[in-house]
Amino acid sequence: MKVLVTGGCGYIGSHTIVDLINNGFDVVSVDSNIRSSTQLLDGIEKITGKKVRNYKVDLCNLEDTHAVFHENRDIVGVIHFAALKTVPESVADPLFYFHNNLTSLINVLKCVKEFNIPNLVFSSSCSVYGNTTALPVVEETPLGEAQSPYARTKQMGEKIIEDYSRVNDTQSILLRYFNPVGAHPSALIGELPLGRPDNLVPVITQTAIGKIPKLTVFGHDYDTRDGSCIRDYIHVLDIANAHTKALQYLIDQKNKSNCEVFNLGTGNGVTVLEAIKAFEKISGVKLNYELGPRRPGDVIAIYANNTRAKQVLGWEPAIGIEDMMRTAWQWEVALRDRVLSN
Ligand code: NAD
Ligand code: WQD
Repeated sequence: MKVLVTGGCGYIGSHTIVDLINNGFDVVSVDSNIRSSTQLLDGIEKITGKKVRNYKVDLCNLEDTHAVFHENRDIVGVIHFAALKTVPESVADPLFYFHNNLTSLINVLKCVKEFNIPNLVFSSSCSVYGNTTALPVVEETPLGEAQSPYARTKQMGEKIIEDYSRVNDTQSILLRYFNPVGAHPSALIGELPLGRPDNLVPVITQTAIGKIPKLTVFGHDYDTRDGSCIRDYIHVLDIANAHTKALQYLIDQKNKSNCEVFNLGTGNGVTVLEAIKAFEKISGVKLNYELGPRRPGDVIAIYANNTRAKQVLGWEPAIGIEDMMRTAWQWEVALRDRVLSN
């Protein structure tokens, strides 16, 4: 069974391709490489022994997107990862984000409709909940005001798919990821942030390796157990496996409605300072960090109720915070070693 993965050259897409291949699926990828290269496809080949074809196509171009679907009419489903995801960039250039993330989605849906593709899985985000105080968040928690144009593209993307699914035969699943981190244990694929990262775990590993001089903990006087913010970090392998399970669930026609939504988090809240401690423990590196001011727009705490994904999809996140940090660190070290050996 063949699956079309958009954004397959990116962080979560590449890990999901490995999981799909390990579960017997054939995969083709569509990625314009606006935020990636084909480097991770080489890693996928080393891990799985399978060479995955990538169509270097901008999904905002309907004609090119159509040509890919035309050539791959036999797919059982689409997993749509392709999107821009940098929150501050979306604040600075909202139209770029609305154009890229929504036009690409609409074009994918047009092709899914025309070629009668039965199944669709969409990358959503916990950022759709906005600044909620109802913790842990369940899928029915009302969506709050989006805190960025990026988050708004995810809220709108969800609504577009919901409306589309109401009147078409495609079965859809919306997966709301919490904070995906870590890398494949082979250290052959992982996150490749372009420029200076904003997300905590790449900032931790890049500080430890010396690419960033010092990490600032954004806020230490919040009303939490140690004053720093709480997030639900989840290993990218667990996120990846949820996609295979979601797709299989749709293929087996176990869904109760045309569009279902699932939270993908561990259910455990971890503070910034706890994440740093976990990193220091597994790496033996003393991190150079300081306690600094709050970052505008940060929610104090958010973590998932993941009961639905566990009960309905039979998914079980298995990897804890120390292994998240260990694999992220091994990936950072492997990147450095590769640069040194070139
Ligand atoms: P990523 O940037 O590593 O991968 C996204 C890929 O999509 C990139 O390779 C990029 O080149 C490609 N792409 C973007 N626009 C495209 C277009 N118009 N046409 C073709 N390809 C295009 O990001 P990721 O972390 O792997 O995220 C994957 C998905 O998960 C995104 O939709 C993102 O919004 C969502 N998500 C990510 C996180 C996270 O923290 N990483 C959290 C929640 C949701
Ligand atoms: C985590 C915690 C920071 C960097 C973002 C997006 C969200 C989703 C996931 C895509 C916060 C603190 C960070 C640093 C720090 N992505 N921090 N020092 O903000 O929860 O979510 O990624 O959908 O949409 O907004 O993740 O990793 O940036 O921050 O103290 O140098 O780490 O304040 O408490 P966030 P993050």
